[in-house]
Amino acid sequence: MSKDVMVTLTVDGLEISVPRGTKLLKACLDNGIYIPSLCYLDGMDHPPASCRLCLVEIEGRPGPLPSCSQTVEDGMVVHTETDEVRLLQKTAFRLLVSTNDGKCRLCMANKHCEMQKIAKFLHMPLRTKKLRHIPKDMPEVIEEHPCIVYEPNKCVLCGRCVYICSQQNYDFALDFAKRGFNTTISFFGSREEGVGDYCRNCRACVDICPVGALNLKDERDAFLQNLQAKISA
Ligand code: SF4
Ligand code: SF4
Ligand code: FES
Repeated sequence: MSKDVMVTLTVDGLEISVPRGTKLLKACLDNGIYIPSLCYLDGMDHPPASCRLCLVEIEGRPGPLPSCSQTVEDGMVVHTETDEVRLLQKTAFRLLVSTNDGKCRLCMANKHCEMQKIAKFLHMPLRTKKLRHIPKDMPEVIEEHPCIVYEPNKCVLCGRCVYICSQQNYDFALDFAKRGFNTTISFFGSREEGVGDYCRNCRACVDICPVGALNLKDERDAFLQNLQAKISA
């Protein structure tokens, strides 16, 4: 790639070069610099910057900023590991886990869940006595969709599923519903004919969910049966 389409910046003392227009978070991740993130997906034109986990400090800019919404610039000097960044990331993480059901051993995402990875990175537990668990006032499992199950108490409302569903060439909407503490994911129009077949083949939202909040019914049933068999063995 010619030099003028590349941008060179420094992150934690390491010089990296990435294509012009790259989001800072992606630039770091592509160069082996881990920054926790949940709501960003590669290809988003307007990242929602809602999880507040991907904060970094950029010299010359006021306060920590979400790296997912910053575009790289030549000569940028970035710090991903400052005390202020960590403090704010831990606060954001605490808020996210306060509604989590913490039942990792019973979850299909156990051992490949991004919340577990972030907890490890921030040296924070997923459940602690100091952290009050505030369950959402919703059923544990919502089965309104013909083939997908949704578990609101695992959902971190990152919006990845909403974005990825909007990228499918299909006239069906997975979207946020309600507001504030009761915000949830809803499958609008999921009883329409053909949705079950389409979604079983697509499964994009299931695969992109960073936690275990969305699963195909069949796979979840098989997982639970397997788990039950192990427990009673
Ligand atoms: S399976 Fe595909 S079409 Fe169906 S809700 Fe998920 S992303 Fe949307
Ligand atoms: S269901 Fe999964 S992908 Fe969708 S908002 Fe919740 S955590 Fe994010
Ligand atoms: S990934 Fe940047 S705020 Fe969520």
